[in-house]
Amino acid sequence: MTSPTAATGDTSNNTSNSTSAGALQGRHALVTGASRGIGAAIARRLAQDGATVSLLGRDRAALEAQAAQLGQATGQLLVCDVADAASVQAACAELPTVHILVNNAGQAESAPLTRTSDALWSRMLAVNLSGTFHCTRALLPGMLSAGWGRVVNVSSTAGLRGYAYTTAYSAAKHGVIGLTRALAQEVAGKGITVNAVCPGFTETDLLAESIAHITQRTGRSEDEARRTLAALNPQGRFITPEDVAHAVAWLVGPGSAAVTGVAVPVSGGEVS
Ligand SMILES: NC(=O)c1ccc[n+]([C@@H]2O[C@H](COP(=O)([O-])OP(=O)(O)OC[C@H]3O[C@@H](n4cnc5c(N)ncnc54)[C@H](OP(=O)(O)O)[C@@H]3O)[C@@H](O)[C@H]2O)c1
Repeated sequence: MTSPTAATGDTSNNTSNSTSAGALQGRHALVTGASRGIGAAIARRLAQDGATVSLLGRDRAALEAQAAQLGQATGQLLVCDVADAASVQAACAELPTVHILVNNAGQAESAPLTRTSDALWSRMLAVNLSGTFHCTRALLPGMLSAGWGRVVNVSSTAGLRGYAYTTAYSAAKHGVIGLTRALAQEVAGKGITVNAVCPGFTETDLLAESIAHITQRTGRSEDEARRTLAALNPQGRFITPEDVAHAVAWLVGPGSAAVTGVAVPVSGGEVS
């Protein structure tokens, strides 16, 4: 099947021309969920822009593979579950000041509300919402001391609108936007901005899992399921991880200091 991105011919965000080399020189970034997908693209982009990038995830081997791609731009590797407050606190205590925190680690599981178990509900909130809280609480004191910081939370279009069968995920991602708006107000006078990005359906392992779930539940073919989801984006394609990384780079880069408390859709116009 032709990739929807290729079909549009629009890969402008994937070229190295879009980087602002050196713009983040001297900055230390931590990207959670950096071993693959959107987080890996954000880590690559921040490294290209000059930051030293520490990587957090649960799988050491996957983080090491990502670090090998970043080379000398790699900071530290944090093997940790963001849902576990104590391990986040302990892992972050080892880090030098983090100037840029990208809370990207997340999981998406779907079920009709009446089949949403307590475990599924708790898992979605723990990883997507509490994980964002744990990492931010651990690293905000360093930003406050430095008098400069950038927090970007990866929410979702599911944080701005509803999709059937995603109540737990959607509640968590709406919560991430609430956290973003409130913290932005709290630290507005302290040199710290707090924003969210809200990707639409993005070509990653997480999307592949969602498509597998749809085919299993509905009997639709993989191509049919992909077409249905891509059609939700008025550009008729899936978002790329690099599209999201570009928005994050803009929010943390020079010139965006006045932008705080916003939730930026990266969705080809699906939500605006
Ligand atoms: N793909 C989409 O369509 C889409 C759309 C909107 C928003 N998003 C959001 O974008 C973010 C990244 O998604 P993605 O599509 O790139 O997913 P992905 O390819 O599945 O990657 C998820 C990343 O998060 C890490 N992770 C998962 N659970 C974790 C935990 N408990 N503690 C620490 N790390 C954890 C994973 O590494 P390990 O498993 O090795 O820990 C991996 O690095 C998520 O917040 C997701 O909700 C995705």
